[in-house]
Amino acid sequence: MDDVSSSRMALPDGNTMPSLGLGVYKVPNDDVAPLVHEALRAGYRLIDTASMYGNEEGVGDALLATDVPREEITVATKFWMDDLGYEKTLAAAKRSLAALRLEYLDLYLIHWPAPQRDLYMESWRAMEKLKDDGLVRSIGVCNFHAEHLERVMDNSDKIPVINQVELHPWLTQEPLKAFHDRHGIVTQAWSPLARGQILEDSTVVSLASEYGVSVAQLVIRWHLQRGVSVIPKSLSPARIRSNAEVFGFHVEAEHMAVITALNRDYRTGVDPNDRN
Ligand SMILES: NC(=O)c1ccc[n+]([C@@H]2O[C@H](COP(=O)([O-])OP(=O)(O)OC[C@H]3O[C@@H](n4cnc5c(N)ncnc54)[C@H](OP(=O)(O)O)[C@@H]3O)[C@@H](O)[C@H]2O)c1
Repeated sequence: MDDVSSSRMALPDGNTMPSLGLGVYKVPNDDVAPLVHEALRAGYRLIDTASMYGNEEGVGDALLATDVPREEITVATKFWMDDLGYEKTLAAAKRSLAALRLEYLDLYLIHWPAPQRDLYMESWRAMEKLKDDGLVRSIGVCNFHAEHLERVMDNSDKIPVINQVELHPWLTQEPLKAFHDRHGIVTQAWSPLARGQILEDSTVVSLASEYGVSVAQLVIRWHLQRGVSVIPKSLSPARIRSNAEVFGFHVEAEHMAVITALNRDYRTGVDPNDRN
């Protein structure tokens, strides 16, 4: 049976990535290293940070100190909208590598497409170069609508390996996920617990008690069974551990459908077209 350290997903560039990781948005730089340690001890092998989170150095501290071999860990980071553009993206990647003190990134992501700036294709050219130069193993995006993905795919021989988007039972993203599935792009859920709000939903609360698991565990398991990669964040070592204990039970198809039917296209964040 899989566990958090062995459950992996195939990426369209031939690499693989853990299906479950730790997200560290809003974790202060001074607090992040012990949490990354805790996650690695619990078997997590994917850490999702971003230059905008201001904690790449702390993540790097944990990576320097751990006994887990570098090649077992997938380190994902992103560059912010101000670094859209060819030269700026190259420079941003070098800054992230320096902050993390790594020789290569496993996954480098465009944080937001900011379509009105019309610079994400220029950045994609820089991403292609970073991959060709070996500084980045896999390249992907966040918050892209299908039309933005199509533009990249029409103009590049490199496909974004993942699209990290807001996704949880109140925002199931079915059309976008179907688009990803048709092209082999991995769907990764940010705010997979709707920033904690989904934990109050009465339907998932009562289903979780039927299964004898926590509400977070049920929702994380629902993501994984849909084939969605998931990166819950927690400041609590105990919750980091329990969020990874989702490989010992299976959600029945009828209950998967009940959770998926909670969709109401509710965003905790902004629509990507409105962030520029
Ligand atoms: N690409 C993007 O634009 C983007 C945007 C947002 C987020 N992200 C990524 O996605 C990651 C996750 O998203 P998120 O941090 O916004 O939200 P999230 O993971 O959906 O929810 C985090 C919230 O849930 C709580 N929580 C976590 N596990 C819990 C548990 N077992 N029981 C009870 N409460 C629990 C946390 O509280 P405690 O901390 O107190 O445990 C926190 O308040 C981020 O850290 C980041 O890496 C990416």
